[in-house]
Amino acid sequence: MPDRVALVTGASRGIGRAIAERLGADGAAVVVNYRSDADAAAKVVTAIERSGGQAVAAQADAGEQDELRGLFDVAEREYGGIDTVVCNVGVARFAPIAETSDEDFDTIFRTNTRGTFLALREAARRVREGGRIVVVSSGTAVTARPGSGVYGASKAAGDALVRTLAQELGPRRITVNSVLPGATDTEAFAAGLPEQARAELVARAPLGRIGRPDDIADVVGFLASDASRWITGQTIHAGGGMF
Ligand SMILES: NC(=O)c1ccc[n+]([C@@H]2O[C@H](COP(=O)([O-])OP(=O)(O)OC[C@H]3O[C@@H](n4cnc5c(N)ncnc54)[C@H](OP(=O)(O)O)[C@@H]3O)[C@@H](O)[C@H]2O)c1
Repeated sequence: MPDRVALVTGASRGIGRAIAERLGADGAAVVVNYRSDADAAAKVVTAIERSGGQAVAAQADAGEQDELRGLFDVAEREYGGIDTVVCNVGVARFAPIAETSDEDFDTIFRTNTRGTFLALREAARRVREGGRIVVVSSGTAVTARPGSGVYGASKAAGDALVRTLAQELGPRRITVNSVLPGATDTEAFAAGLPEQARAELVARAPLGRIGRPDDIADVVGFLASDASRWITGQTIHAGGGMF
């Protein structure tokens, strides 16, 4: 059985994919969760195997309790247990509060807040001693810009759960942290971003560019490693200095 086993939700694309590949390269056996795109998830598995690692793709809606439990079952059945959980799935919709529908509010909170709660609760029950739990939050949880209110609130609620769970799991040497990306070049983010909005983002970015998925994956890789053993209950800002 592998020394370390990781589960990454929403790992067929974007930031989740980069995290899965990073953890695989660092030696973990990885459960690559996806919801709909089996081909994309299979490519992630192949990439991890090519770099010498082990991985398995697992379909599940990470926002559904039973399906989420099934993901943890896959990790235990295939690899004998679970050490690292990365709760990456999230949905972003931006609109002024005055124009946000009840449906959008419910969708965002159901996926981001309830989904994070379900993943943290399952992780709290099943991650082995000395394990790592990381939530992919958002810089919008700690900043205020027009249009990001509901999304940011849904992520801030997840960060509050992270801080509490870190207190609760400390006696088992399990660390719990969240990483807050700023604007990061993924399909979800890049699609629909007008050229001018991108140029404005770059213009106010201290490091002169938008983030890349591997910028975030490197931070998560650190938080999943032994080197981060003294960091728990923290919200790590990974936005290239933009917040
Ligand atoms: N990109 C940014 O600028 C940015 C900034 C701050 C925070 N974030 C956060 O970073 C995380 C990842 O964002 P991203 O931009 O990488 O997203 P993305 O490119 O849209 O990728 C989403 C991934 O999640 C999967 N997925 C979506 N809903 C799912 C569900 N209910 N259950 C299981 N898998 C699901 C998708 O799989 P399928 O394709 O198979 O459905 C895909 O692999 C999110 O939490 C987001 O809020 C992103």
